Amino acid sequence: MQDKFEKLQELKDEALQGGGLARIQKQHAKSKLTARERITLLVDEGSWEEIGMFVKHRSTDFGMEKENYLGDGVITGYGTVAGRLTYIFAQDFTVFGGSLSETHSEKICKLMDLAMQNGAPLIGLNDSGGARIQEGVKSLGGYADIFFRNTIASGVIPQISAIMGPCAGGAVYSPAITDFTVMVDKSSYMFVTGPNVVKTVTNEEVSAEELGGSKAHATKSGVTHLTAPNDLACILKIKQLLSYIPQNHHEKPKDLDYVLNDELRPKLDTFIPESSNTPYDMKLVINQLVDEDSFFEVHKDFADNIIVGFSRIGGKSIGIVANQPFSLAGVLDVDSSRKAARFVRFCDCFNIPLLVLVDVPGFLPGTDQEWNGIITNGAKLLYAFSEATVPRISLITRKAYGGAYDVMNSKHIGADMNFAWPSAEIAVMGAKGASEIIFRREIKASDNPEVKLAEKEKLYAEEFAHPYKAAHRGFVDEVIVPSETRRKLIKAFHMLKNKEVRRPTRKHGNIPL
Ligand code: HXC
Repeated sequence: MQDKFEKLQELKDEALQGGGLARIQKQHAKSKLTARERITLLVDEGSWEEIGMFVKHRSTDFGMEKENYLGDGVITGYGTVAGRLTYIFAQDFTVFGGSLSETHSEKICKLMDLAMQNGAPLIGLNDSGGARIQEGVKSLGGYADIFFRNTIASGVIPQISAIMGPCAGGAVYSPAITDFTVMVDKSSYMFVTGPNVVKTVTNEEVSAEELGGSKAHATKSGVTHLTAPNDLACILKIKQLLSYIPQNHHEKPKDLDYVLNDELRPKLDTFIPESSNTPYDMKLVINQLVDEDSFFEVHKDFADNIIVGFSRIGGKSIGIVANQPFSLAGVLDVDSSRKAARFVRFCDCFNIPLLVLVDVPGFLPGTDQEWNGIITNGAKLLYAFSEATVPRISLITRKAYGGAYDVMNSKHIGADMNFAWPSAEIAVMGAKGASEIIFRREIKASDNPEVKLAEKEKLYAEEFAHPYKAAHRGFVDEVIVPSETRRKLIKAFHMLKNKEVRRPTRKHGNIPL
């Protein structure tokens, strides 16, 4: 028997070597950790169990039978992260550049099926040259098997993708279907076609970093939600993200113990500038409202006129969507609308209540926005809020103008509690624009049009630039003193914790994509 145990140990040792020492050193030289090192950082000590360690590819084309590595370039298994069951696959770049073969795909699919059947998050640590070129259509089929499962698992279990090396071709579409993507700066990139193909087809010269590095995807395309300076920081971000999210769509996020305390935040009483055109940083408001150091922003560098992220309030995990007056006056445009819509839908999938902070002058006008589909994209956010059944609370801090008033979680589209500060202005548009339109003739006929306009602006502001008309109709439930907001929110979220809403049965809705 002893010899059999020795044989087993030999095979295990061989599998642990991946593509061999030289390739491991090459990986380290690029400041990248190996797949196994990454998993070790992610899971709780001693919790990791590997599945399919001895799987080998079955390819015989191009002499592939002579080169075969145990595990076939992907490590799959399960462990706990902060005590919670989590399924993880990590591609091993030292084996055929982490490229995806038929068997490599089978290992990932087996894991995905287990994750779905057992209702636990799936984390993919991607580091792959894409389809294994020697395998042709078998590899393409393998990718499609994964994409299909990503789609079926969407909204059932949380799926998080780390991009920790090259991800080309097929390797980008699975992450794109998952809920969140985290890219490592400098050592990772994502593109459908790389710089060489770009040069051939469009004659455009672009580096891999420029085309699909973390900065490009964090700021320009919005493909990545988070970035990290290195592998360790990337793993820590995934752990932090997981802490706000439940295991699956049947569960709610875990509440932390919290006892209601002195929740007054006096700074907020003097926070909103006197002039409604002076910008301020909504993140400062968020940090005053939520539990200390609990705000975890996602999609930070993309469409920063809207803020989205997770936080805790009174120990309860929530998602926050907030206009940012600091950037483009917090206006809604194509990118901010789709950014927020996707976040709202994620929170709704996984029973995470929503807090919406509103200071929005409207939708951004202009040909660029109209031709890029502000209508369809703005409608995404409207749709996302309207269909969300999680507890939803809004707070209007200042402007809530025009269509953007409706869109930003208004009472009319199903918000549960709508608060406003006394500084709130709820109107079809700002006082100046409104006066210029409705009093145009009077202003034109006046001896001093400027003075007349100012007079009319004042009149309009007195009539509409406050929250009381909305409060009289019950569109705003309560006008509150800013310093008391945190206490109000904690109590309201607690009051809403058993909220249940049923929608009509249907196959699925048709969000304006
Ligand atoms: C097989 C591959 C491979 C691949 C890399 N390798 N990519 N083997 N299939 N797709 C192997 C290399 O031969 C090499 O083997 C090892 O992995 C490391 O690769 P290097 O080139 O030495 O590494 P590096 O210089 O870091 O470059 C990494 C890379 C480059 C940028 C990923 O290897 C590359 O461009 N690969 C091809 C990418 C690609 O075009 N993939 C197909 C996409 S199409 P040795 O033995 O030397 O260690 C696709 C279609 C799916 O995915 C569509 C579904 C929708």
